[in-house]
Amino acid sequence: MRLVRRPSGPLRDGDLGVVEVPVPRPGTGEVLVRNRMMSVTAVMRSLMDGEIGLPMPSYEPGQVLWGPAVGEVVEVGDTDLAPGDLVVHQQGWREYAVVEAAAVRPVDPRALPDLAGHLSQGVTAWLGVVRGGEVRQCDTVFVTGASGGVGSLAGQIARMRGATRVIGSTGSPAKVDYLIGELGYDAVVVRGEGGIEEQLRSAAPDGIDVVFDNVGGEQLVAALAVARHGARVALVGTMSSQASGGFSAPVEIDTGALIMRGIKLHGFAVADHLDAVAEATREFGRGLAEGAIVFPHSRLSGIDEAPRALRELLGGRHIGTVVVEL
Ligand SMILES: NC(=O)c1ccc[n+]([C@@H]2O[C@H](COP(=O)([O-])OP(=O)(O)OC[C@H]3O[C@@H](n4cnc5c(N)ncnc54)[C@H](OP(=O)(O)O)[C@@H]3O)[C@@H](O)[C@H]2O)c1
Repeated sequence: MRLVRRPSGPLRDGDLGVVEVPVPRPGTGEVLVRNRMMSVTAVMRSLMDGEIGLPMPSYEPGQVLWGPAVGEVVEVGDTDLAPGDLVVHQQGWREYAVVEAAAVRPVDPRALPDLAGHLSQGVTAWLGVVRGGEVRQCDTVFVTGASGGVGSLAGQIARMRGATRVIGSTGSPAKVDYLIGELGYDAVVVRGEGGIEEQLRSAAPDGIDVVFDNVGGEQLVAALAVARHGARVALVGTMSSQASGGFSAPVEIDTGALIMRGIKLHGFAVADHLDAVAEATREFGRGLAEGAIVFPHSRLSGIDEAPRALRELLGGRHIGTVVVEL
C-alpha cells in the first residue's frame, strides 16, 4: 500500500493505493516474512503530512507505508531465524516484507492467546501510566480518549497500579456502557454532551491526581482546571487535532494556576523510555495472563481494507486496537 498523495484534511479514497510487485528475496542477514496481521494507529495520519518533528520517518508520496505487523518467516538469508518463526516488525501495509533479522522481535506463539495481542498499545499505556503519570496507590486518574488503542488499556493499567478511581472520556455516547462495564472505568465524560469541566467536577468531586492525556484541546484544559495540588499530567497524544492531520495541538493554559498548585506537565514519548520497554512488556503480559487486563480490538480483513480501517479508527468507529488480517 503506497501513499499516492498527501491528504488534505481527513483521509479520502485515492490518497492510498495498492500496487502489485514481485515478492522480494532476502539477502544476507535478512528474512522474508509473510505478514499475517498489521495494525493501524492514529499517528499514521500524522505521518502522511510529511516531516512534522515526530521521532519516526514520515510517509512519502509514491512510497510504501510502514507500521507494526506480525508475520511468519518464510525464507531466510543466513540468520538464526528459521522458516515458521513468528516475528513482530515495522514493515506492515504489505503482504510480504523483507526485513533485517536484527530489526525483528521473535514472538512465542504461546505467549498470548491471540496473535493480535502482539500489536497492542500495551507498552505505551504501561509506560505512560508508570513513567508519564507516575500513578500511585489511591490516585484518581483521568484518561482522555479512553476507548482508543492506548486509552482502552491505560485505564486498566492505572487500576492495576493502585488507582482507586478511574475516569475516562469519549466522543461516542454508545461506548460509555462498554467503558464502564468491560474496561472498569468508574465514570465517563462525553465530548459534545455539555461542558467537559462540569462533567469532570461531578465525576471527580475531590479532584484528579493524574491525567493521562491522549487528546489535548478542551479536554486537557478541563483536566488542568480540576487537577489537585501536586497532580501529574502525562501528555501522550493529540487526538483533538490528529484526525485531520498533523500533531500540533495548541491550547491556552494559565501557568500561574499550575505553579500555585504544583502541577507537573510531562511531554511523554515512548522513544524516551526504551530502557523500560522489556519491563512494560512483561508486566502487560502478566496482566493479560492473570485476567487483570482485557485487550479490546477490532479486525478487518485484507490489505484493500486497511485504508478503511484507518479511516474508521480516526472516526471513532472502534474500541481499542484495530488490526487488519492480511
Ligand atoms: N507519546 C507516545 O509515545 C505515543 C505512542 C503511541 C500513541 N501516541 C498517541 O496517543 C494518542 C492515542 O493513540 P491511540 O492509538 O489510542 O489512538 P486511537 O486508537 O487512534 O484513538 C482513536 C479514538 O480517538 C477518539 N477520537 C477521534 N477523534 C477525536 C477527537 N477529535 N477528539 C478526541 N478524541 C477523538 C475516538 O474515540 P471516541 O469515539 O471515544 O471519541 C477514536 O476511537 C494518539 O494521539 C497517538 O498518536 C503517543
